[in-house]
Amino acid sequence: CGIVGLIGLENVTEGLVNGLSHLEYRGYDSAGVYVDTPGAMSFTVKTKGRINDLREEIEKTGDVTGFRGIGHTRWATHGKPKTENAHPHTSYNGRFVLVHNGVIENFKEIKDNYINDEWLQGETDTEMIVHLVAKIAEEENLSAKDAFKKALTIVEGSYAFALADKEEPEVLYVAKNKSPLLVASGEDFNGVCSDALALIELTNQFVEINDKEMVTVTKEGIMIEDLAGQVQERKAIEFSITANDLALGTYEHYMLKEIEEQPAVMRNILAHYVNEDDEVVVDDEIVEAFSKADRVYIIACGTSWNAGLVGKTIIETLAGIPTEVHLASEFGYNTPLLSEKPFFIYLSQSGETADSRQVLVKTNKLGYPALTVTNVAGSTLSREANYTMLLHAGPEIAVASTKAYTAQIAVLSILASVTGKNKGIEVAQNFDVKQELSLVANNMDSLLTDENKFPSLVHNLLAETRNAFYIGRGTDYSVSLEASLKLKEISYIQCEGFASGELKHGTIALIEEGTPVIALITADHTNLQTRSNIQEVKSRGAKTCIISMEDVAQEGDDVVLPHVHPLYTALVSVLPTQLIAYYATLERGLDVDKPRNLAKSVTVE
Ligand code: G6P
Repeated sequence: CGIVGLIGLENVTEGLVNGLSHLEYRGYDSAGVYVDTPGAMSFTVKTKGRINDLREEIEKTGDVTGFRGIGHTRWATHGKPKTENAHPHTSYNGRFVLVHNGVIENFKEIKDNYINDEWLQGETDTEMIVHLVAKIAEEENLSAKDAFKKALTIVEGSYAFALADKEEPEVLYVAKNKSPLLVASGEDFNGVCSDALALIELTNQFVEINDKEMVTVTKEGIMIEDLAGQVQERKAIEFSITANDLALGTYEHYMLKEIEEQPAVMRNILAHYVNEDDEVVVDDEIVEAFSKADRVYIIACGTSWNAGLVGKTIIETLAGIPTEVHLASEFGYNTPLLSEKPFFIYLSQSGETADSRQVLVKTNKLGYPALTVTNVAGSTLSREANYTMLLHAGPEIAVASTKAYTAQIAVLSILASVTGKNKGIEVAQNFDVKQELSLVANNMDSLLTDENKFPSLVHNLLAETRNAFYIGRGTDYSVSLEASLKLKEISYIQCEGFASGELKHGTIALIEEGTPVIALITADHTNLQTRSNIQEVKSRGAKTCIISMEDVAQEGDDVVLPHVHPLYTALVSVLPTQLIAYYATLERGLDVDKPRNLAKSVTVE
């Protein structure tokens, strides 16, 4: 979910709704706003559906203007996506209005001990909290601030809250624990948001808020306190993203824009990791800590996990350190036996994923070194790890991740190569990151100029199907997993990424007349084996498509990839698979950038 709040503008409504539209990647099941003006009307507008639906509701309501307001876009956890469960929630006595991102773990206890069932309108955990604040204020005759603070000592779980008290129309109260929250500092207004993207069009000055802190926000200023009431001094930081980064330009979808940005992202990464002497550099402290490790543990989810699989091979080859890749949601609760000197890499586009964070909290407690590789400077995982390496990919807006995947692989390769060179590993000494990554960027460009062949390829291969397979060996297998995730998440075609040699040991039973099987072949040493596997499925009726690298290509292959270094094949072979997912989704008339049920940044476990 995403939250936003504004106070001090002549009319906050447009700023709130626009802010929410930039937070839609965090969830888009339902949305709502509350706005008011001292001594004048207040409005609560909410609806099931997207921000555009909310805009329509606001227009229907007419003249929804205000000096202060809070808004929310929801990814359902407790309670179905419906208007009653949409935020903001209002207290039983009508005095308080609240939006929330996170999950209240002890909501049942709060409900049983403090809440009158008749007060409840929907089924969300958030609703309990707004009633709890109202009840404390009423029964204990406390100010909004003190009642809120007291409620925060009862609440357990993750939260970013923004609270409006109708009796104090010139203040917003916010608080945070484990869910992201920034305070936006404007010239004659202030605001709060889950992500700077929401308010970057209004200001580039943001103040970071720590867990268990509460902030009083007025038009004139902000005051941060911890829950014991100790005031915290903190300066605003200038954020470098611009409104331009958020623009779609001539593109119809962010996903295609982001796919096409990948060559520029590769060049941008080099620009950031190459110094004035034209050397590829990584912070000495990171290289030193990394070099000491006897084993690397990459912790990630979704597409980032898939990027980690490719990163593993690169780290093992260039830096010579055995590497394991783990799903964050598994690792934290089923921790494997660790080596003596582990080094943790948290791979996360957003830097906010709660599953990854719960592992980081545990490894921090154990005192193990941790590096976050992320696209978002100042994100939670970045702040809580010892070290950060940034992806420099620019904001990724489409829910399906594309440029962050290739950027993660590129940045891990820079770390591995600098470390390997430092350790005197021969393969690393012979690997010229600058040259190889520049070649990748150029070859990505040439692949993308061929993009217009994909709509018909996709039509012939996937138009009618409900399921499909990607197969490959080695890195091609790792890319198959990402390729199939991409196709599943946006086109809803059930797709499996499979080790091509393993298919015959069971899963081949699923191949029938017309089943699409897409094979990735980029390595010479597995070329013939994978081609045999293609024959096996073909003879059982599969409709096949071969994506191969030019060195191993054969006549009739459907997509031929320009040659890149063997460690970098994933960076080019993934591009056609991203385009296949994109065009398959377009052909089905589905929402490319906002697939059903998903959110880009999942801040709950
Ligand atoms: C969500 C998104 C995925 C993403 C995953 C990990 O589930 O829908 O696209 O790969 O989170 O996100 P992260 O920001 O940690 O890379």
